[in-house]
Amino acid sequence: MYTMQSWTCLFLILCSMQSACHCCDWIRHHFGHLSAEYLSQLDQMGGDITKQNSPVLFPTSLYRHIDDAEFEVKVRFLNETIYQIIQLFDGNMKSVTWDKKNLDDFLNILERQFENLNSCVSPAMKPERRLKRYFRKLNRKVLRQMNYSAEAWELIRKETKRHLQRLDILAGQMY
Ligand SMILES: *[C@@H]1O[C@H](CO)[C@@H](O)[C@H](O)[C@H]1NC(C)=O
Ligand SMILES: *[C@@H]1O[C@H](CO)[C@@H](O)[C@H](O)[C@H]1NC(C)=O
Repeated sequence: MYTMQSWTCLFLILCSMQSACHCCDWIRHHFGHLSAEYLSQLDQMGGDITKQNSPVLFPTSLYRHIDDAEFEVKVRFLNETIYQIIQLFDGNMKSVTWDKKNLDDFLNILERQFENLNSCVSPAMKPERRLKRYFRKLNRKVLRQMNYSAEAWELIRKETKRHLQRLDILAGQMY
């Protein structure tokens, strides 16, 4: 009976290792590629990045915390951050002057990255609350309070670039 249990246990460990490795392979071969593509579209869709500062502080300590987390936690963090960015870009964009084609490509590639990450590991029991709170604040203090103006969207573009660059570094540390 004991042996049976240990074999089952070993089997389960091997399975979970394998799925993590499959994920690892995918991140190694594809994450950076898509990441370079959407960052380039983000740069090309408008002019220079604004010099103005966002009224919401970048969550540096949260990233530092995730740097030390396990592989699966990192994957979920990548997934959740990209999801939050996609949600942010779902707001009223009547005032933006960005190139429509670049903007569409940017969002499509980001969506692809999200779908791949989402199928990579099983969903978390509890999502990262600090991350959600940060994005809610960004939405409220920048987009809503600045009336979805072109200026507000430039700030969002700046902060998005910063996040996507940081996620790229995070993914690079995962293999
Ligand atoms: C990815 O994020 C979405 C949106 O929050 C969530 O529904 C999904 O369960 C997440 N997937 C993983 C693997 O964490
Ligand atoms: C946003 O719009 C509201 C109502 O139209 C106005 O009172 C407010 O001053 C505007 N805020 C900014 C930052 O333009």
